[in-house]
Amino acid sequence: MARQQVASMLAVALIVGAIFGSVPTAVQSMGVCYGPLGSNLPSSSQVVELCKSVGIQGMRIYGPHKPTLDAMRNSGLGLLLDVGNDKVCELAASPCSAAAFVRDYVVPYYPAVDIRHIAVGNELNGCATDCIVPAMRNVHAALADAGLTGAIKVSTSVNYYTVVRDAFPPSSAAFARPYMADVARFLETTGAQLLANVFPYFAYAGNPGGAISLGFATFRPGAATVTDPGNGLTYRNLFDAMVDGVYAALDKAGAPNVSVVVSGSGWPSAGGFGASLENARDYNQRLINHTHGKDGPQGTPRRPGRMETYVFSMFNEDLKMGDPTARHFGLFYANEEPVYPINFRID
Ligand SMILES: *[C@@H]1O[C@H](CO)[C@@H](O)[C@H](O)[C@H]1NC(C)=O
Ligand SMILES: *[C@@H]1O[C@H](CO)[C@@H](O)[C@H](O)[C@H]1NC(C)=O
Repeated sequence: MARQQVASMLAVALIVGAIFGSVPTAVQSMGVCYGPLGSNLPSSSQVVELCKSVGIQGMRIYGPHKPTLDAMRNSGLGLLLDVGNDKVCELAASPCSAAAFVRDYVVPYYPAVDIRHIAVGNELNGCATDCIVPAMRNVHAALADAGLTGAIKVSTSVNYYTVVRDAFPPSSAAFARPYMADVARFLETTGAQLLANVFPYFAYAGNPGGAISLGFATFRPGAATVTDPGNGLTYRNLFDAMVDGVYAALDKAGAPNVSVVVSGSGWPSAGGFGASLENARDYNQRLINHTHGKDGPQGTPRRPGRMETYVFSMFNEDLKMGDPTARHFGLFYANEEPVYPINFRID
């Protein structure tokens, strides 16, 4: 292509970017978390078709489920693949078991399945956290042995509330758990992203006295802003403040170049304080819009640019234990009807 043509295309791209607030090269990705703990859920291939039909671009699954991996072949959906929490210490203890994981669940599927991240553990607690970094190392080495370094990133998925302390203002945040320093260094060295589950809902619901406004928690346009005295950045929503807390913690842990992928975020439509169809729809639609940079500059104040976000979750999962809200995070009922109208196609 002639240099001039390239230059004029670039100029057009920059103008388009200036008008619409995002440069087209910064492809964003909006996925969903597909948990299996619901009765009468559709088959994996029906779920993949449903995702495609509504414009969902990626999926997270919490363990290597072969029917889902098969259904995702050539679907165009990106995949965040969890190894399964019960497997992490085995993968840590044995390079051989990491090689078997890659042999069984990655090599037969990649690249027909666009595996982007492998999550070594989801919100692990207790002694199992000792296994995270050794398991990440073994899986990373097994991918390298299979010739798959680079495209597929090895990380772990953390609960914001567990791993971040001194969260406000965001610039004061640091990691609350010693193992996170090693996780951060591993990610910095390998160029992988940190996977963080970020739920403003729980901060909102945990302060029913009104310390956090519903508007700030749900990206409502015009909600009162908060300025971080540490660096002067202004926050229009709690989500960005939380994500930037993770960035501040990464920075302090010596991993300033690591990006954050939001591996789960959502709002329940029933079952607890602030849980309603309206709030869930507002939060999730604005989260989608925010990920696409439709509500202002793309990214967070501290880290402008591309975002990758997974909405939690695809279905209402009636078999989940615990708090009643846990069964009401879904975008869809098991019969594939939407719980409330939601639009993933906003470009
Ligand atoms: C972060 O990236 C910059 C620019 O590529 C590099 O010079 C620096 O060494 C990196 N920092 C760390 C801690 O790896
Ligand atoms: C999301 O973005 C679309 C496209 O820009 C816009 O039409 C819609 O009103 C936005 N929705 C919300 C809830 O902000």
